[in-house]
Amino acid sequence: MLEQSLLFDTPELADTQNIAVNLAHVCKGALPAGIVIYLEGDLGAGKTTFSRFFIQHLGHQGKVKSPTYTLVEPYELDGVTVYHFDLYRLADPEELEFMGIRDYFAENTLCLVEWPQKGADCLAAADLVISMKSHDNSRKMTITAKSPRGTDIVNGLSVQGN
Ligand SMILES: Nc1ncnc2c1ncn2[C@@H]1O[C@H](COP(=O)(O)OP(=O)(O)O)[C@@H](O)[C@H]1O
Ligand SMILES: [Mg+2]
Repeated sequence: MLEQSLLFDTPELADTQNIAVNLAHVCKGALPAGIVIYLEGDLGAGKTTFSRFFIQHLGHQGKVKSPTYTLVEPYELDGVTVYHFDLYRLADPEELEFMGIRDYFAENTLCLVEWPQKGADCLAAADLVISMKSHDNSRKMTITAKSPRGTDIVNGLSVQGN
């Protein structure tokens, strides 16, 4: 499959916010099919910041905590459940089996997964992979579609990539 991919420069927080808000909007329109988004990038790249804007746009009022210690934070929102994972501290992907990971990837749920590589084969496949890089004063984000649904979502975005 030819992967649809968009590259963005995101030097300002507002750039990251714009993309997160636009993506959240398009994802909401793609429900009730479940959507899985992997967030890749080093510590400080902006994965949690992006998730915060995304989840708040879907209607969550108040704080979006980093799930670093809890592994997952759930958000029951209007018309959608968001599960925000951070697998950074996961010692063994098998722990995900014990927490019943498969039940999280369901209809009408949107899963955001930071550090997906730590989950190895225990995670559902991604519809979208968002990769972030922060280097000196430059920040970049790439959104890549990994499934037909992901391709529809990327094609539905109104933010313009490079
Ligand atoms: N343009 C930007 N996009 C995203 N984060 C930014 C941007 N500019 C500054 N930041 C800051 O960079 C930090 C990113 O941290 P965080 O989102 O926790 O990263 P990660 O979850 O990838 O480890 C936050 O303090 C955020 O405010
Ligand atoms: Mg984080």
